[in-house]
Amino acid sequence: MTTEIESVLVENRVFPPFANLVKDANISGMEGYRALCDEAERSPLEFWGRLARENLVWDKPFATVLDESQAPFYKWFADGEMNVSANCLDRHLNTPTANKTAIIFEADDGQVEHVSYKQLHARVCEFANGIKALGYKAGQRAVIYMPMSVEAVVAMQACARLGIIHSVVFGGFSSKSLHERIVDVGAVLVITADEQVRGGKKIPLKPAVDEALTMGSCEAVSHVIVYRRTGGKVAWQEGRDLWMHDVTAKQPSTCAPVSLSGEHPLFILYTSGSTGKPKGVQHATAGFLLWSLLTMKWTFDAKDSDVYWCTADVGWVTGHTYVAYGPLAAGVTQVVFEGTPTYPDVGRFWDMIERHKVSVFYTAPTAIRSLTKAAEAAPQFHPREYDLSSLRILGSVGEPINPEAWMWYYTHVGREHCPVLDTWWQTETGAHMISPLPGVTPLKPGSCTLPLPGIAAAVVDEAGDDVERGTGGFLVMKRPWPAMVRTIWGDPERFKKSYFPPELKGYYLAGDGAQRDTDGYFWIMGRIDDVLNVSGHRLGTMEVESALVSHELVAEAAVVGRPDATTGEAIVAFVVLKRSLPEGAEAKAIAKQLRDWVSKEIGPIAKPKDIRFGENLPKTRSGKIMRRLLRVVAKGEKVTQDVSTLENPQILDQLSQSV
Ligand code: PRX
Repeated sequence: MTTEIESVLVENRVFPPFANLVKDANISGMEGYRALCDEAERSPLEFWGRLARENLVWDKPFATVLDESQAPFYKWFADGEMNVSANCLDRHLNTPTANKTAIIFEADDGQVEHVSYKQLHARVCEFANGIKALGYKAGQRAVIYMPMSVEAVVAMQACARLGIIHSVVFGGFSSKSLHERIVDVGAVLVITADEQVRGGKKIPLKPAVDEALTMGSCEAVSHVIVYRRTGGKVAWQEGRDLWMHDVTAKQPSTCAPVSLSGEHPLFILYTSGSTGKPKGVQHATAGFLLWSLLTMKWTFDAKDSDVYWCTADVGWVTGHTYVAYGPLAAGVTQVVFEGTPTYPDVGRFWDMIERHKVSVFYTAPTAIRSLTKAAEAAPQFHPREYDLSSLRILGSVGEPINPEAWMWYYTHVGREHCPVLDTWWQTETGAHMISPLPGVTPLKPGSCTLPLPGIAAAVVDEAGDDVERGTGGFLVMKRPWPAMVRTIWGDPERFKKSYFPPELKGYYLAGDGAQRDTDGYFWIMGRIDDVLNVSGHRLGTMEVESALVSHELVAEAAVVGRPDATTGEAIVAFVVLKRSLPEGAEAKAIAKQLRDWVSKEIGPIAKPKDIRFGENLPKTRSGKIMRRLLRVVAKGEKVTQDVSTLENPQILDQLSQSV
């Protein structure tokens, strides 16, 4: 294996597209790709206008494709009207797709449920009617805090059907994070479940909602709708709490979708920024759905015969675009999985691919890396032990996939006949931006290759000028695109500052560093700000630091990322306590206490892997924490940089000691 990988790096091996895919793909061959790119280049507005007319079902056609009058607050298809849920469900009702399976739901314990498009439509309509009967309407906000389930998709689709703006909060987030989002979004409704089931364990969800709603400023929430997943015991507030099955009971199975402006907000999803609290990334109806559907067709080459599986949770953007919306609009059969890749054993993913005959599989590098390790330790669960012949396309998302993981995925899961599509995008971009296409792009392990047609990606310097090939710089988008973030909910100034800094000529700043090789391929170099990427999830260093400092023992904290073989990046926290420096068992106990604290404050994914105690933090004479040095210390490397501006250089030795 190792020699294979080295040869990839040394020879810079290229994997040309497979002939069968070139022949049959929705975008066929480099000529097909270039033709679309040229069309977009010649007239971006005609290009997007044509695609929006051809791919979406409009109640009222749009006259204006793009309104730039208030840039960077771009408006797309604003004078047209449509409904996202109708575009995902109703469009299939009078076609053969109606009776096709929309969702193959597999529960943690292996139970399987098939839901057809017709049935899903009915379930969405019943629930939409139920929440309409409670008085909720377009423009209001609902927070969804649910496990992976058909019901979560139903809840999102029902909101979209009525124009209620949803904000999904990942079930792994704490009551405190949930509270912050309920308040920021101004939610009037919360939809949750009694418990979730993962890895054979029941994890309560409703208590976190109950707790969040006691934390203040949530008076606007008048109902909590609860999906009964396990029947576990839950506290109940009469008048406020309602069972989902009671809300839907006796409701008609049709519900007229509300016609909404193309710009009507579809959802708000929180993501980390470099400073301050998480940003409420707001997406809009038409543009988001258009790009979700097109990337299903282009990147994943969605075909009627596909069984598609994206393993992401609906709590993340990937679960929005590539579970709740894109696959339904495309009319494919998709797998929705409640559980974890390691239960009941580490072969779960491969077993599920075999049983459901999955043809398109989309997961994260962190899952690949941990399953690589697991398969080595337990060869009976190695992917080679399963029949994976149904696979035709593999995808990866969330962080750079290192060539080693790429090769393993390609060789052992794809059996050297499936392209590995390294898709680069962000919560803010709505859908794929830079990605190989299965019938077009020669692959290079570790590169997300080329921008999709219509996407004006570039690498520029501080002045917004293109850098030379082979030189690193800021990844930007030179032109707006329909699925772009519209604003940060409640904070338009922060939106402008974060994504359209004046010195960059009005380009969208992605926040990633990148470089292009001589073939024009993009290589992502990671975040340029203080944002961590742990297992493909964005976390702000500030968020973790604030959580640590809110603990009664902590005076000061600084958090940095360190490369980690499994999770991509691991969190290392440098902590100054209000008391004397702890040692030995006591230090271990306090570190554990702090880790649990962060887990409770934000969620388990934010737990620092490593906590170091010191009497102080390395600071410049002006009092700035020198994170650059902390990153070196976190990696266990010797500091060779100039430390002469440091007020207290000896502190670095102290902070090198792991607890
Ligand atoms: O740094 C990039 C990394 O993940 C960030 C976006 O995170 P988030 O908004 O949580 O969305 C994740 C799912 C789309 C990016 O700024 N990232 C995402 N995909 C890749 C990636 N880095 C390298 N290669 C990728 N394929």
